[in-house]
Amino acid sequence: MIKKFLNLGKQPLANNYLTKNDLKRKKKQIFYTLEVGFNTSNKLVSITNTVSSKKMFANDYPYRSSMSKTIITSFKKLAKKIVNQYHPNLILEIGSNDGSFIKNFNKKKSICVEPCGDVAKTTKKLGYQTYSDFWNLKLARKIKKKNKNVDIVYSANTLSHILDLKSVFKSISYILSKNGILIIEDPSLLECLKKTSYDQFYNEHIYVFSLCGIKNFIKKFGFEVFKIETLNIHGGSLRFYIKRIKNKEIKINNSVKIQLKKELKFGLHKFSTYIKYKKKVEKSKKGLQRIFKMIKNQNNKIIGYGATAKSVTVLNYCGIKNDTIDYFMDTTPGKIGKYMPGTYIYIKGYKKTLIKKNKYCYLGAWNFKNEIFKKEKNFIKNGGKFITHVPFPRIIKN
Ligand code: SAH
Ligand code: TYD
Repeated sequence: MIKKFLNLGKQPLANNYLTKNDLKRKKKQIFYTLEVGFNTSNKLVSITNTVSSKKMFANDYPYRSSMSKTIITSFKKLAKKIVNQYHPNLILEIGSNDGSFIKNFNKKKSICVEPCGDVAKTTKKLGYQTYSDFWNLKLARKIKKKNKNVDIVYSANTLSHILDLKSVFKSISYILSKNGILIIEDPSLLECLKKTSYDQFYNEHIYVFSLCGIKNFIKKFGFEVFKIETLNIHGGSLRFYIKRIKNKEIKINNSVKIQLKKELKFGLHKFSTYIKYKKKVEKSKKGLQRIFKMIKNQNNKIIGYGATAKSVTVLNYCGIKNDTIDYFMDTTPGKIGKYMPGTYIYIKGYKKTLIKKNKYCYLGAWNFKNEIFKKEKNFIKNGGKFITHVPFPRIIKN
């Protein structure tokens, strides 16, 4: 049974940035009620109203992994580790986006799956075998016909975007070699609760994974987690190393026990934990609204840094619109010159001179705080202030 515990109000599709023409034509945006629930049987946490994948991941999908150095470095490091440890003959990536991960592997030994046509062109052009399609059994069959067995399946920030997890794991089991390894990486539910980062929930993030949820789910497909890595990326992520239960050559690492213990201690298996969380989220909303109001009352301008999908949840939930935030700055070509969905805040291309002109800056990309603070050390040195809601609403003291 799925028990709802959080209502984040009416929300637009997160990556559906609006053009000037959309505003002129008063294009009707799709709004849905963003509610989050806890599955009392399998312990998975998910949003309860979903939008079709075809609507969310169309040709013009703007997100590009390569916009953050932190991501590029993390992928490079992992790729090195995979090559050294597993020497794969063939690796398949689900949700390869602009190839930020797969670029670290030999073209002849890699397969990309990426449904969004425009971004899939990037790896195609580089000569990688790329399937511009959604991951499912039909596609797995098509790929297997043309290729040998896959030794490694890797998927970052993608499986949590797919409603039908049964089909996902069935298809992975079909394509993976007998002793093959599945590595998945997604935001961690434990961190999302600890940091009150409710913006991990939006239409694309159907699930926010925990070990206690994933381990239950994959068992039915003959899989088990044998190692867990906790990462700082995206505000706290989990990297699950998964093998077939039948494969007894690999021993279960102690990290699995440690993570499970942490999750149970926090109460991720209990509904009451989520009720407490809901209260924290509501408090966070009030706190952020108060900060914005105070700054505006002092006649100060506020801009946004990083027009993230996550900030779409925050701004729409807290009712912060273009009369409060003048504009966002972002480096993503497909977002520049457009407007934030639901709040109509304009997005300008990143320029150092823009941030210099302002005093207050809402950190939409709070998950890349370290990278951004390094880049903007002069802004901070000259008295510039960042505002965040993670782990609680505040003007960051430097
Ligand atoms: N792996 C990259 C990109 C994450 S964004 C990273 O970690 O930075 C999620 C990506 O998954 C998008 O590029 C999206 O098009 C893709 N995606 C969404 N649904 C998918 C599906 N059903 N099968 C394969 N890819 C999918
Ligand atoms: P991200 O947090 O990865 O994801 P999501 O949109 O899924 O919430 O997005 C980071 C955004 O911030 C992306 O649009 C690029 C932008 N960005 C900058 O503009 N400058 C930067 O220095 C960094 C690190 C990111």
